[in-house]
Amino acid sequence: MKQVLCALLCAVALISVTASAADNETIRLGVNTAVSGAKIDRHIFGQFAEHLGRGIYEGVWVGPDSKIPNTRGIRNDVVAALKAIKVPNVRWPGGCFADEYHWRNGIGPRDKRPATLNPNWGGVIEPNTFGTHEFMDFVQQIGAEAYLSINVGSGTPAEAADWLEYLTTSQPTALAKERAANGHPEPYPVALLGIGNESWGCGGSMTPDEYVNHLKVYARYARNYNTAKPMRRVAVGPDGPDTGYTEAVMKAWKNKTWAWDIEGLSLHSYTVVKWPPAFKATGFGESEYATMLKATLNMENLVSTHSAVMDRYDPDKKIPLVVDEWGAWLAATPGSPEGFLEQQNSQRDALIAALNLNIFARHADRVRVANIAQMVNVLQAMIFTRQEKMLLTPTYHIFKMYVPFQDATLVPIELPAGAYKVGDIELPRVDAIAARDAGGKLWLSLTNLDPNRVATVDVEVAGAGIRRAVGETLVAPKIDSVNTFEAPGTVVPKPFSARASGKKLPLKLAPASVTVVALE
Ligand code: AHR
Repeated sequence: MKQVLCALLCAVALISVTASAADNETIRLGVNTAVSGAKIDRHIFGQFAEHLGRGIYEGVWVGPDSKIPNTRGIRNDVVAALKAIKVPNVRWPGGCFADEYHWRNGIGPRDKRPATLNPNWGGVIEPNTFGTHEFMDFVQQIGAEAYLSINVGSGTPAEAADWLEYLTTSQPTALAKERAANGHPEPYPVALLGIGNESWGCGGSMTPDEYVNHLKVYARYARNYNTAKPMRRVAVGPDGPDTGYTEAVMKAWKNKTWAWDIEGLSLHSYTVVKWPPAFKATGFGESEYATMLKATLNMENLVSTHSAVMDRYDPDKKIPLVVDEWGAWLAATPGSPEGFLEQQNSQRDALIAALNLNIFARHADRVRVANIAQMVNVLQAMIFTRQEKMLLTPTYHIFKMYVPFQDATLVPIELPAGAYKVGDIELPRVDAIAARDAGGKLWLSLTNLDPNRVATVDVEVAGAGIRRAVGETLVAPKIDSVNTFEAPGTVVPKPFSARASGKKLPLKLAPASVTVVALE
């Protein structure tokens, strides 16, 4: 089987995945520095924070009177951890929650805000103590940009238009004065605006054509008045492989009038093998490990399929594909509250994150925003909190290791990847990307999918005298190893280095590991 993954209009072969390489053969990875790929937009490392379970309340917001150290109610430990991974944007307030969210409930004095319900997620009380100003304060504290989702499902165009005016105008309108009275005279910057969420499902069960009718109205009236910060409007797009929304939205965009526009199309796709999610987050065997990795690699097909449809309407790739919900969705932690979507996070999740990020990077010309679901305490989280304690997950460590790839330029590689087989499943043994950062340094990320064998990869960089590789590797005692509050250091990156021998730089990758190195 020979499969060529192509991210540069297929002008250059980036990765040649050849499963016929002998089992224990050294794998050759050729880096072609003569060719430059697309920029890997830092926004593919975005986060998603929904009012869901302990994602916001406790996870981010503890309130100014909490004993947990905080700045204006936002926990300091979480802010510091997120700053370290250079989060480019945070999508908020949902998710399904967004299409039932009424922004006015979340402004003004906190003790006067109404208690409402969160019917999507456990039917719990939503106190509305974390609202617009608290969110904008939070993203400012972590150095990220705001990605807001407006309520199309149960809201009105007027409600969305008012929210945007409230947030972004510098003119002395009644809404701007209300914003100032609530503590923020300056207009806020809103970088991204989602026009609805999953409008084919929890966001209103609309057909593609019904949604397009709504899209045109909201895209017209939800205006950004902050000229200092351009805002990109993101239309709801496909659910998995179904191209109905992709076709309808892109066709409407191609035929758009002066009266409306969009600057992004969303794709949601989780790594979930059975529905409802039944695969365990810990205590799984090799078969479930490989099944989840195989399902993850299907992101490649999804992105290619939707990109191909988009190419027909938008050959210049003006509209990014925004993968604003992705990640592993597993069986909930036993004993956790119904609807809170709490799950442990293992070394397998670390590989799932790396494989997805590699796919987005290879499609950097089209995938320019992505948001893992979700940031804290929910689904494939970066961070867990337990009252005053905070814990970093294996997925967090991948995002930290990948910081050098933010806004780096993709460099084509050639990789006969070998095969990892278990039962009927055959996967590439190794997956990799290369990129050059703004300072000219060359970076490699390599994932050894095989949990049983060390992979030896001989790196060859044509035309560059590489002497060594220096970086980190994330390796764990077992494929289902996790970090816990009692043992937080089970899965943490370890230093990694290798020296060149002649023209070859041999890298020994531990089983089921992710390694990121700078080539010097
Ligand atoms: O991330 C959890 C939920 O998954 C989101 O609210 C929804 O958009 C998706 O179905």
